[in-house]
Amino acid sequence: MCGIIGYIGPNPAYPVLINGLKRLEYRGYDSAGISILDGTPKVYKCMGKIQDLEDYVSGKDITGSVGIGHTRWATHGEPNDINAHPHTSRDGHFIIIHNGIIENWDLLKKELERNGYSFVSDTDTEVLANLIEHIYLSGDIKAEAAVRLALTKVVGTYGLVVICRNEPDQLIAARCSSPLVIGIGSSEYFIASDASPIAEYTKSVIYLNDNDVAIIKKDELILKTLQVDEPKITLQNLNIETGKYEKDGFDHYMLKEIFEQPRSIADTFRGRLVPDQSDIKLGGLHSVLTQIQNARRIIIVACGTSWHAALIGEYLIEDLCRIPVEVEYASEFRYRDPVLGPEDIVVAISQSGETADTLAAVRLAKEAGALVLGICNVTGSGLSRETHAGVYTHAGIEIGVASTKAFTAQITVLTMIALLLGNKRELITGDKYRSLIGEMHSIPSKIEVLLKQDAKIRSIAAGFKDVCSMLFIGRGYCFPVALEGALKLKEISYIHAEGYPAAEMKHGPIALIDNNMPVVVIGIRDKSYEKIVSNVQEIKARKGIVIAIVSEGDEQIASIADHVIEIPSTNIIFSSLLSVIPLQLLSYHIAVLRECNIDQPRNLAKSVTVE
Ligand code: M6R
Repeated sequence: MCGIIGYIGPNPAYPVLINGLKRLEYRGYDSAGISILDGTPKVYKCMGKIQDLEDYVSGKDITGSVGIGHTRWATHGEPNDINAHPHTSRDGHFIIIHNGIIENWDLLKKELERNGYSFVSDTDTEVLANLIEHIYLSGDIKAEAAVRLALTKVVGTYGLVVICRNEPDQLIAARCSSPLVIGIGSSEYFIASDASPIAEYTKSVIYLNDNDVAIIKKDELILKTLQVDEPKITLQNLNIETGKYEKDGFDHYMLKEIFEQPRSIADTFRGRLVPDQSDIKLGGLHSVLTQIQNARRIIIVACGTSWHAALIGEYLIEDLCRIPVEVEYASEFRYRDPVLGPEDIVVAISQSGETADTLAAVRLAKEAGALVLGICNVTGSGLSRETHAGVYTHAGIEIGVASTKAFTAQITVLTMIALLLGNKRELITGDKYRSLIGEMHSIPSKIEVLLKQDAKIRSIAAGFKDVCSMLFIGRGYCFPVALEGALKLKEISYIHAEGYPAAEMKHGPIALIDNNMPVVVIGIRDKSYEKIVSNVQEIKARKGIVIAIVSEGDEQIASIADHVIEIPSTNIIFSSLLSVIPLQLLSYHIAVLRECNIDQPRNLAKSVTVE
């Protein structure tokens, strides 16, 4: 969480910092700050958005070609001006920005207090700034040595950048579990918590590994580890499209990203569904395909929306390949001592590729000897670097905190994997395989058709903007979609929402039904269709209000529901790619009508890089 940007070079640092913070604002947005060095360091920080920081800095001295910036998502200490980063050490020797959590901050703080330090903020970061300073002042050592020594005393996670007042020609950066990427320009360097703010300046980047420490000067980059050894470094070409960050006329990134789904799904299968529609090629899995094909079981780990995609993956792989699949919350999996071994295949799904729990689950699975695969949207992210093999989703950068196009891209990849494995295992043969591949090609145009119902969905949303709670139910492939619909609604509109398998209603939730309770029913025609018709009748018998997502031409549910949204006909295995679209739009419009902050909902951040 939190966004970090740093610059050192011949040019003014301020534009790089402020534009970088705007790119990073999706990671955290409760306060922000910068420090710029032009001989002496200046620090400007305040509570609020980047725009508030810009207003605050306006008219102040921003000269300098070395600087750091930070946008915060509070962990220690409430969002306010003082807790905003950068933090300055007591005697002003060090200025630091930090992403992560220093878990032993309390012990370190007490130790520093015994050495005469006092603290102005409630943050763990200020403790770190003072610890570095204390070590620096206690011996005749360089700033980078003080940083490295201080970090050996730290328990926790960090991605940090440090300025030392006495050594103003360098930035010192270090990483442990919180991503940092260095961009290499011509006599200039950039550093950031992800590549998005530096992609417009350079395509050459180095991703720091855990325990790396970088000493970054205008014309020199020295990489060490906490233990001094030189790490292996990899220069990568950034595969990020710049200029795709605008809203392109949409009111919000979320809406833009919902409408991008015909393209993002097509981009995800482009080159993988081979042109004559006879096969699927997933280059990233080629070397391990036989092992996956013969898997005893597959475990999928993920968080949030990616976990919902994982559930759909379970249904797809079990249906089409007959391989048992278990889906785990990464946060539970990593701590519950799961039974794992070299014969297991673990698939980690993450849009950002930087979710702390998902990365920890990957490491655990690797330690147990499992083959670990990744499904990820961000090139060069932790997940893509730490897994043995994997498949990128090509959804493009997702800025809205509420995940939309990444979800459907993940399902697209999972569907391709299931179809490919099903074919290799001779469970889907010849004509059937070709016809399913052909049908997959038609999904983007079916979504185009669905998106034309936006105005209708907006008018349905108007009737629900003041509700306190909403239920979402479905069966089979529609159940994970119900979970996702509920998550979308709660995270952006702050309306309480729950998703259930429809049959579970009778085991408790049906007690909630009265004439104030809207229930979104995802009732796509499949083998359990008649059952869900009964569920709708049960809700109506108790005066609940039903918004039904149904297959094109449906008459049974349509005749009893209060509101009906049709999705184009498709094979049930592709249905979640369609049925989730009206739910995304419904949540979006309800949240807009409630005047919520769509792209930056309260308390959330785009990538959860702390546990
Ligand atoms: O980057 P990841 O896919 O690993 O992120 C996982 C969740 O944090 C994420 O899906 C979150 O639930 C979204 N805000 C949902 O819209």
